[in-house]
Amino acid sequence: MNVRPYLIGIAGGSASGKTSLSNKIQEALSVDCTVISTDCFYKDLTPSQLLEVAEYNFDHPDAFDFIEMNQALWKLLHCEEVNVPIYDYTRCRRSDSFIAAKPTQFVILEGIMALYDPKIRDMIDLKIFVHTDSDECLARRIIRDTEQRGRDIHSVIHQYRKFVKPAFDEFIFPMMKFSDIIVPRGAENKIAFDLIIQNLKIKKNSQDN
Ligand code: CTP
Repeated sequence: MNVRPYLIGIAGGSASGKTSLSNKIQEALSVDCTVISTDCFYKDLTPSQLLEVAEYNFDHPDAFDFIEMNQALWKLLHCEEVNVPIYDYTRCRRSDSFIAAKPTQFVILEGIMALYDPKIRDMIDLKIFVHTDSDECLARRIIRDTEQRGRDIHSVIHQYRKFVKPAFDEFIFPMMKFSDIIVPRGAENKIAFDLIIQNLKIKKNSQDN
């Protein structure tokens, strides 16, 4: 593949439905589309941070390695394959393996910080912000973190009050102003989804011809 991939950024609050929207777009495009999560670029914690993991702010931009994220996207946009780390939420660290991300016609970067870094924003062709009611996000997060991420309900609520909601207000919600499209309710918003797919198919056809 030697055409520069078209980069889509999908940001929004935690558990707002970014992953579902990304996966639905990937399925609907019927061409190769790589999805990368900003969570792959969480920094590993130091041993002392690991001892007090409940007090670590995973929702602050400093928790992410934006230089590495930048380099990975730059390579993909220059048609190079790149090894993306796999993040293990139960151990709060990267696992030992990687995913080989390919420079496909469409690449999606999804995650709470997908639109945060100005250099990354400049690389993104289509910026989407998923906006879901915060009660719904919290309800989904409680279920997900207790069932899939090895947390108990008290730690989920402590983390939400102390870090997740304040970071949403301070860093994530303000990114909405950089987006091209705001999708209320995420993947279940069929009309917004159809409009996005129509737009991407036009892009695809113009690249194919
Ligand atoms: N997080 C955590 N522990 C870690 C690393 C991250 O609890 N070791 C949490 C952060 O608090 C952050 C969230 O993971 O809020 C980021 O993931 P999230 O956006 O919730 O996941 P997605 O699956 O992308 O959410 P969505 O439902 O929108 O798809």
